[in-house]
Amino acid sequence: MTIKTFGIIGAGQMGNGIAQVAAHPGGLNVIMNDIAEQFVDKGIDTISRNLDRLVAKDKLKAEQKKEILSRIKPSTKLEDMKDADFVVEAAVEREDLKLNIFRKLDEICKPGVILATNTSSIPITKIAGATRRAQLVIGMHFMNPVPVMKLVEIIRGLATSQETYNLTEALSKQFGKVPVECNDFPGFVSNRILMPMINEAVYALFEGVGTPKAIDDIMMLGMNHPMGPLALADLIGLDTCYAIMDVLHKGFGDSKYRPCPLLKKYVDAGFLGRKTGRGFYEYGK
Ligand code: CAA
Repeated sequence: MTIKTFGIIGAGQMGNGIAQVAAHPGGLNVIMNDIAEQFVDKGIDTISRNLDRLVAKDKLKAEQKKEILSRIKPSTKLEDMKDADFVVEAAVEREDLKLNIFRKLDEICKPGVILATNTSSIPITKIAGATRRAQLVIGMHFMNPVPVMKLVEIIRGLATSQETYNLTEALSKQFGKVPVECNDFPGFVSNRILMPMINEAVYALFEGVGTPKAIDDIMMLGMNHPMGPLALADLIGLDTCYAIMDVLHKGFGDSKYRPCPLLKKYVDAGFLGRKTGRGFYEYGK
């Protein structure tokens, strides 16, 4: 199938980033869907500001920016996905919600359309099981900030076909990304390794080993990480970090993945990181 129109479910930090790379450099028409107009508008606004960065750096002309934005159609009805040739779901990291979206997408989308998920840790095989097109369901896991990070982790579910894999790989390249394949285990590769490190940094804070700044500085200056684990947790969102640790903990049944109680406390307090203005650090609104 030739892909002309790309559907994205979720206009949040991952969703709007994926919409952006699908439109540029991907060159596709994009339908960006979320549950309310205000979320879609915020997503469009973020894309517009990110494109401004490219214009300011002379990597894009102002007319090109206009043309790119004109190819991104806002949507608040899942039914709009009937026109999409390939769909990526990037909704909140909750299993019940994702299964429900996939059940509906399976009804709405044309036969043969691939339904990919940007889940950070929920089993692809389980998500595929909510549809009657399991061979067309795949994990397409982008990294935050999407316009900057090169990786797309592509995860095959048990029934994912080779054609589905090939098309997803080709599309990732079209979006200017480098696809890397892995199998369907809790946390895949990226979060199985990244998230226990972040969780351990929260334990170090919890136990008073160091201040947030000291913990982050040690990892940046000593290990050459571009940002410290606590600042990265704030960027990812503490609710997402907690949800991923919970999937690892339950999925492997191993206590080494126990989410740090301080992480849970921050989530309960609504300190979710940059998106709420406060996480391990405070951010000006
Ligand atoms: N959107 C678009 N572009 C952005 C951006 C954003 N949100 N943030 C930064 N950039 C661009 C800047 O414009 C700049 O571009 P040029 O090089 O062309 O000038 C470039 O990225 C570097 O930005 P800065 O100089 O402002 O800052 P930096 O050098 O400190 O880089 C960073 C910022 C790219 C975020 C860097 O700190 C970094 O790589 N951090 C680690 C990010 C990471 O680990 N991401 C993965 C998270 S895990 C995940 O996403 C998956 C999951 O399932 C949880």
